[in-house]
Amino acid sequence: MQFSKRLLTLVTALSFIVMAAGQSIASAQTQSAAPTGTFEFMSWWTGGEAPALKALTDLYSKKYPNVKLVNSGIAGGSGVAAQAVLKTRLLGGNPPDTFQVHAGQELIGTWVVANRMLPLDDLFASQGFNDKFPKGLLDLLSYNGHVWSVPVNIHRANVLWYVPANLKKWGVDVPKTWDDFFAACTKLKAAGVSALALGPNWTQVHLFETILLATLGPDDYVKIWKGGVDWTSDKVKAAFTTYGKVLDCANKDYDSLTDWIPAAELVVQGKAAFQVMGDWEDGWLRAVKNLTPNKDYGWAPAPGTAGSFDMLADSFGLPKSIKNSDATIAWLDLIGSVEGQNAFNPLKGSIPARTDADVKNAKGADGKPLYSVYSQSAADDWASNKIVPSLWHGAAAPDSFKNDFATVISVFNAQRDADAAGAAAQGLAVLSGMAKGS
Ligand code: GAL
Repeated sequence: MQFSKRLLTLVTALSFIVMAAGQSIASAQTQSAAPTGTFEFMSWWTGGEAPALKALTDLYSKKYPNVKLVNSGIAGGSGVAAQAVLKTRLLGGNPPDTFQVHAGQELIGTWVVANRMLPLDDLFASQGFNDKFPKGLLDLLSYNGHVWSVPVNIHRANVLWYVPANLKKWGVDVPKTWDDFFAACTKLKAAGVSALALGPNWTQVHLFETILLATLGPDDYVKIWKGGVDWTSDKVKAAFTTYGKVLDCANKDYDSLTDWIPAAELVVQGKAAFQVMGDWEDGWLRAVKNLTPNKDYGWAPAPGTAGSFDMLADSFGLPKSIKNSDATIAWLDLIGSVEGQNAFNPLKGSIPARTDADVKNAKGADGKPLYSVYSQSAADDWASNKIVPSLWHGAAAPDSFKNDFATVISVFNAQRDADAAGAAAQGLAVLSGMAKGS
């Protein structure tokens, strides 16, 4: 009797706890009051990457003047430094109110499975988001039947950037394949120009993934992240070999450049002919360098990747145990709205994640088209190309694979051993659960 009474009390107490937790999850997804207080957000959009973020925070401040914004941005392209700090803060139970995170494995495989995020199903339902984002993107944001972050954009990783006037001066064409590129490289070397502008380790992995895509083709490139293509196969080895030849056409000091922007400067300054980089480069060239697309600079799919769109998306979510959930929900509402996406993306070089943001016709207050000719072309390619996920920018593989693969690239740079690199990558794929061991 005594025992069953205790059991009953325990069961009742437990069900209260479960209910309370359920309620707090539900109410955490909708604003309970007009937001006030401080709101801390973290991203790596600082310096030359800051203008688009500023457009968004200005809009937020206009709507929510009683919120004090605390921008805990940490410099370092692709989040190399920000993600390390974030890890310490989230694992230590001190998360910012929200943070930039890539859709796909970076979000799901790191933060969702570690139980650090709250689901956003109610927010998506109340804002009608489920019909507003492409299905493939919603799949990248979802796990266990729940959706875990709000996407603000879609970026393309496999783009080749150049200055048309310089190519004319040097007498080289835009390469459609890596063989075309090697022909241009011989000519450019003779003229004392680097054929490729390259930066530190992460930009090397970024370059490698586009060469992998060119070498495997989109179907096998998609399969490799699920163990359907072996990293020790001849095709993958060929990708490493091509990558090694491309390195020999790059500026020699790539490892000592601090980021992608100093490499981009080499192209702008006429010291290098081409750069393979994501289309945040379009945002930087326009919003920071004041250059005009199709005149001062041009672009093409990275060699051998026409018809494929190597995609990634930036998003923000709702961590557990944050200080200001009302202000965070207000942020998530805003970045997922047409208004928010059309403030951010025209400056960022990305296209909006929302399908109804109307890239073709959207106009600014001055009556001019909001989106650049580059973004128009990216939107066309997004609609017609094969969409494949970016490795380096969190979409394709878990962080464990991605980060160790960066070491495989460093070792390859020094040793140029395609067999060893393929074998190491295959081992990592097994370790991180992407492929079966033999
Ligand atoms: C990507 C990010 C982009 C851009 C880029 C360079 O990972 O998704 O928005 O910031 O890094 O830093």
